[in-house]
Amino acid sequence: METVIVDFPAVGLTGRVVVVTGASSGIGAATARGLHGAGTHPVLVARRAERLEQLSAELGGAVAVPVDVTDPAAAQRVVTAALERHGRLDGLVNNAGVSLHGSLLDTDLDPYSEVLRLNVVALLGLMQAVVPAMRAAGFGRIVNVSSGTTTRFAPPGARGLCLQQGGGEHARLQHPPRPATPRTAHRAGGRRP
Ligand SMILES: NC(=O)c1ccc[n+]([C@@H]2O[C@H](COP(=O)([O-])OP(=O)(O)OC[C@H]3O[C@@H](n4cnc5c(N)ncnc54)[C@H](OP(=O)(O)O)[C@@H]3O)[C@@H](O)[C@H]2O)c1
Repeated sequence: METVIVDFPAVGLTGRVVVVTGASSGIGAATARGLHGAGTHPVLVARRAERLEQLSAELGGAVAVPVDVTDPAAAQRVVTAALERHGRLDGLVNNAGVSLHGSLLDTDLDPYSEVLRLNVVALLGLMQAVVPAMRAAGFGRIVNVSSGTTTRFAPPGARGLCLQQGGGEHARLQHPPRPATPRTAHRAGGRRP
């Protein structure tokens, strides 16, 4: 049972067409439901076709595009499906993503590369694919879902290697105790020099 609830103000969303990646689960499914409830036509994207079909049936026959977004051809398929059904494309919620947890020394490069391909490369490819349609229409909005872990220090005692979705790679390596330096003083209420 999914408990995520996303509410959108109804203003300005009616009739819009918004691609939601990762719509088969979690935040993406909740976002698609929220958009539909606000009068928007969500375009559902993920790999698990049966889940997308179920959600499509729940949301009045929303377009479902079962693709792996790391496939270089996927982004254009998504745009084509949206334009064929609705003739327009107003928004993209780049939400499909995964986390990879592990210590610096234990993290294998192959799965790490897969995370980069999904969380960063595919996200850029989708943006590149939707922008021409948005430019042609003179309107467009893109939301890239990221993570709070990209803006936090790793907890004391932990070492954190953190990939920032949509903004490139962001790595931190931290050893306890956390050092106080002029650069970090502002976090404790001081002023950045
Ligand atoms: N939940 C949190 O607390 C949290 C915190 C920080 C950041 N986030 C970010 O929020 C986003 C959604 O997270 P969530 O918790 O809702 O995760 P989730 O329930 O695991 O959903 C992930 C979605 O991504 C899709 N996906 C994964 N790989 C894909 C691929 N190669 N091609 C197409 N779709 C793919 C999955 O669908 P299929 O398996 O059907 O393809 C699924 O719909 C992620 O980007 C995650 O990093 C979540």
